[in-house]
Amino acid sequence: MSTTPATPVMSQDELKALVGRAALDYVEPGQIIGVGTGSTVNCFIDALAGMRERIAGAVSSSEASTQRLRAHGIPVFDANDVGDLAVYIDGADEIDPRGYMIKGGGAALTREKIVAAQARRFVCIADQSKWVGTLGRFPLPVEVIPMATQRLIRQFAALGAQARVRLRDGAPLVTDNGQHILDVTGLQISDPPAFESMVNDWPGVVTVGVFAHQRAHVCLLGTPEGVRTIT
Ligand code: 5RP
Repeated sequence: MSTTPATPVMSQDELKALVGRAALDYVEPGQIIGVGTGSTVNCFIDALAGMRERIAGAVSSSEASTQRLRAHGIPVFDANDVGDLAVYIDGADEIDPRGYMIKGGGAALTREKIVAAQARRFVCIADQSKWVGTLGRFPLPVEVIPMATQRLIRQFAALGAQARVRLRDGAPLVTDNGQHILDVTGLQISDPPAFESMVNDWPGVVTVGVFAHQRAHVCLLGTPEGVRTIT
């Protein structure tokens, strides 16, 4: 672990900007970069714009990130048109010391997992509020096929958890893939790989927001003392 000095008092937004800039160290000239979704990644995209002439482009995990990348003049490629990516850079809602994460607060978890799987290295950028010992404090997002919603709510209830359909403007939020999101509270996920495999096997689940099989290899954690690099 190494620590880079930073300004002592920093807001959460400043910490996000700090790690967004720090992630540029993981971008090699000429590469196509895997790019995640969310407010921390937006800071990364804005920083990446400063070196857009030196990269080949990006594979994006959401319509929102695609729009932002294109607005900066960064070419966006279809995942099917490129091979393996050297690096995928994304945020997290929670990350633990093993690099296991909860993701999907921005409803982009399915494409995030797809792009992460295509990359050799996952670099997670997060402010220190995302650091946890055990996953489960943040409501776990699960993308589901709508006709399976009520049965899946009962399956989570059988685990002692409460699942609710995520709403936007009073109606179920519709993801970039045309599906719905359940947010699940009341979980303590002590064995993330086993939990991820179990929920992925439930019919009607598109993607569970536990990223254990696609864990982070590096975490750049924004703290008031600077960026902690955790590997
Ligand atoms: C989007 C995600 C984001 O990475 C996660 O929600 C963190 O977002 P933010 O950087 O805005 O805190 O998984 O689906």
